[in-house]
Amino acid sequence: MRKKIVAGNWKLNNTMDEGLKLASEIANMMNDEVKDGVSVVLGTPFIHLNAVSNLTKTNKNLNVAAQDCSTHESGAYTGDISVAMIKSTGASHVIIGHSERREYHNETNTELATKVDLALKEGLTPIFCCGESLDIRESGNHEAFVSQQLTESLFHLSEEQMSKVVIAYEPIWAIGTGVTASSAQAQEMHKALRAHLATKFGDSLAENTSILYGGSCKPGNAKELFGQADIDGGLIGGASLKSRDFVDIANSF
Ligand code: PGA
Repeated sequence: MRKKIVAGNWKLNNTMDEGLKLASEIANMMNDEVKDGVSVVLGTPFIHLNAVSNLTKTNKNLNVAAQDCSTHESGAYTGDISVAMIKSTGASHVIIGHSERREYHNETNTELATKVDLALKEGLTPIFCCGESLDIRESGNHEAFVSQQLTESLFHLSEEQMSKVVIAYEPIWAIGTGVTASSAQAQEMHKALRAHLATKFGDSLAENTSILYGGSCKPGNAKELFGQADIDGGLIGGASLKSRDFVDIANSF
């Protein structure tokens, strides 16, 4: 059985106080509302990781993620945050390869492979993001493009390592735009990515890998998206900044 996961990605939002308020609202609502078996992840800026981890540690279905990690383990890399530092805050997950990091920080598939390796070595769960731009979708090459992102960043892993990775498919044209991929478009890609994983890691591992959808996922469309056979949850940007919306999305299975 694949894990159902709803992960929030706060991006560059929330001061310390704002973040703690949001996290405690979500933690309180989750205790009463979210079904067992749904894992909820809060992807916070680095500054919140420790405080939010402390606040959520009594709820076993609530986890904390960093939004990035360094390609280095330690040393003279001013401003970087290592996987060991992230782990030491109490966080359990790390988002790797978000399209905003790929675009604004020129992160390559090869660098992302290194980040995935480091995260796994440290015992963090990578949430590996992939997705195509509008140009690529319009050219009809989206499936090949996203498959290549997986090949170049994940296909060097052992089956055991790959079994610990979560994938998030996020069409770039749907991120923060209010345009959601239709459930049929999303399902088609999730199915294709699962089949691509199977070519390398076998059917059983592919069947057990959680693949999340991201891109303008909201309470109003989450049920329809999560109802698709190969969609196992979501990576949520804008709507993760409102506790009510985020918890409603987590309740959409
Ligand atoms: P969005 O962002 O939900 O605001 O579209 C999704 C993401 O970038 O993870």
